[in-house]
Amino acid sequence: MTADIAEIERAARLLEQGKLVALPTETVYGLGADASNPDAVAGIFAAKGRPSNHPVIVHVARDADLSRWTTHVPREARLLIDAFWPGPLTLILPRAPQVPAAVAGGQDTLGLRCPAHPVAQALLRAFRDGQGGLAAPSANRFGHVSPTTAQHVIDEFGEPGVGPVAAVLDGGHCQVGIESTIVDLSRLESHGPVLLRPGQVSAAQIAEVIGRMPAVPDGAAPRVSGSLDAHYAPTTPVALVDSGELASAMQRLQAAGQTFALISYSENFAAIHGMHLPADPDGYAHGLYASLREMDACHAAVILVERPPQHAAWQGINDRLRRAAFDSAGVLEKLLKG
Ligand code: TXA
Ligand code: MG
Repeated sequence: MTADIAEIERAARLLEQGKLVALPTETVYGLGADASNPDAVAGIFAAKGRPSNHPVIVHVARDADLSRWTTHVPREARLLIDAFWPGPLTLILPRAPQVPAAVAGGQDTLGLRCPAHPVAQALLRAFRDGQGGLAAPSANRFGHVSPTTAQHVIDEFGEPGVGPVAAVLDGGHCQVGIESTIVDLSRLESHGPVLLRPGQVSAAQIAEVIGRMPAVPDGAAPRVSGSLDAHYAPTTPVALVDSGELASAMQRLQAAGQTFALISYSENFAAIHGMHLPADPDGYAHGLYASLREMDACHAAVILVERPPQHAAWQGINDRLRRAAFDSAGVLEKLLKG
């Protein structure tokens, strides 16, 4: 099941030829291309249907020489790298002049991440003798739910070698399940560290390492496509419902003759048909995107999601759910009116 070394070597050669390869990371699957090849990077934007001004993260091997990618690694970045790499943390740093502007969506900064998944690390070692970088957004069409299995990637882009993706490396179900935490360290002097996207590495953990809490983004912060209000969304509308109101929402939908799918976590709903996720944030995040995809495939009128706790440990999850539900505001009222 998991890609073997021959498949990884073959994928590295395809990448060196400018082709697209989907790879597993510990967060979600990425759609990788050679970051030093502007045509290959353009292929990512075309395949995803992603606007060209949205920057892509560059993935590097463990102990990579960062001076190839950035002009300045501040002390805070060094501390965070020592604490969390390889792992689900992306750092925004000043872009080195030789890095194609297309990777950064034209910005003068660059997102850098060193993924922990063993298949991703093996691929990064095999690709350009371990000295290269892989530009890799999540391997989904723009705005869709990110993939957490190789099959999800195939569901998005078709069979490898047939559609835009030359190969899909299988690495099993992604352990973390939501995208990396992003911290902007490119404007430290004026803005301090800024949390652009919450993830499994929490703001509190970051503060513990660098001695200050990252700020939330202001209007001058770089644009993050994952921070668009509507994102990570299935085709079926999503409604977030408080635990205490879920039973009555289901009853009323049934009475109105409306179909629904359910994603819950608290014990009260464990016996009801639908997806029941673990009541701890790590377990919940691990299963979230696969559940959204599975419930989307039911073609119900709405996916009801039991609103998770509003505690800091659930910040990344609540952020993704809010965006998944953004375009569906008012859907329950509409369905209940008939
Ligand atoms: O966990 C992850 O980060 C996954 C895996 C594949 O590594 N990647 C991922 O990529 O989520 P993507 O492209 O779906 O989301 C990356 C986010 C985007 O919202 C992008 O705008 C932001 O990172 N980003 C990348 N470079 C940036 C930069 N220079 N400045 C600000 N934001 C940046
Ligand atoms: Mg994405």
